[in-house]
Amino acid sequence: MTLIAQLSDPHITTGSLGVEAAHRAKDAILRIQAMSPRPDLIVLTGDVVDKGDTDEYVLARTVLELADLPLHALPGNHDHAPTLLQHLVDADHAQPAAQETSRCYYRIDYPELTLLCCDSSIPGRHDGKLGREQLRWLDTQLTNAQSSSVVVAMHHHPVPSGITAMDDIMLTDAEDLAEVLRRHNPVRRILVGHLHRVMTMTFAGTVVNSAPSTYRQVHLNLRPEEPGAFVEEPPGLLLHQLSAGQTVTHYVPVHHTGPPIGRI
Ligand SMILES: [Fe+2]
Repeated sequence: MTLIAQLSDPHITTGSLGVEAAHRAKDAILRIQAMSPRPDLIVLTGDVVDKGDTDEYVLARTVLELADLPLHALPGNHDHAPTLLQHLVDADHAQPAAQETSRCYYRIDYPELTLLCCDSSIPGRHDGKLGREQLRWLDTQLTNAQSSSVVVAMHHHPVPSGITAMDDIMLTDAEDLAEVLRRHNPVRRILVGHLHRVMTMTFAGTVVNSAPSTYRQVHLNLRPEEPGAFVEEPPGLLLHQLSAGQTVTHYVPVHHTGPPIGRI
């Protein structure tokens, strides 16, 4: 069995909001550290920081060092991939793409898992795109995957969520991604962030899990005419449990909303 803890959208920043975002990211990591059994790895599905600044990545690295587990990060629309790489590569939290060294997509092999971390960020934009080069890379990795358990992680969602403000900035080459995925055995999961909410979607013969933010959540509003908003709901994370032929995803709130109560 492989246990993957998925953190997303910590939006670590500096200045007046800095302590809150970093504090909540730290709490999420401590929640993982307190799990028994401990997860095998952590995947951080983007928006590691809020503005893509060097100072933010310095602070992010300090916070991520609390994780006593392998942690694999990828960029979101609030990140700056080259700066993320500059600060997280030597901590083993990220890798530059072999073919496009300013982008951050890479493969990690575990005994029973092949993890493909993708980079859907586009400098200066909030929507996302993988691009031809990365899709070719993904196709090759899926052809050569050593494990039958393949998990793909990226920031932007490839399926409309129903929340218009977020769907306006979703993955724009989702059809090309679907075409690549359909050529291979189904991957176990596609793990995404960006939506700041827990959602489950079907896409190209597999399941997409969107993780909550460790910082702040997006308001569930399915009225297309209304603007998007954040809402004060508890920060959380996902725990994906992969065993032979079965994948289970647990939602884990980081904070309790009331006092602990007794046994069931
Ligand atoms: Fe975000």
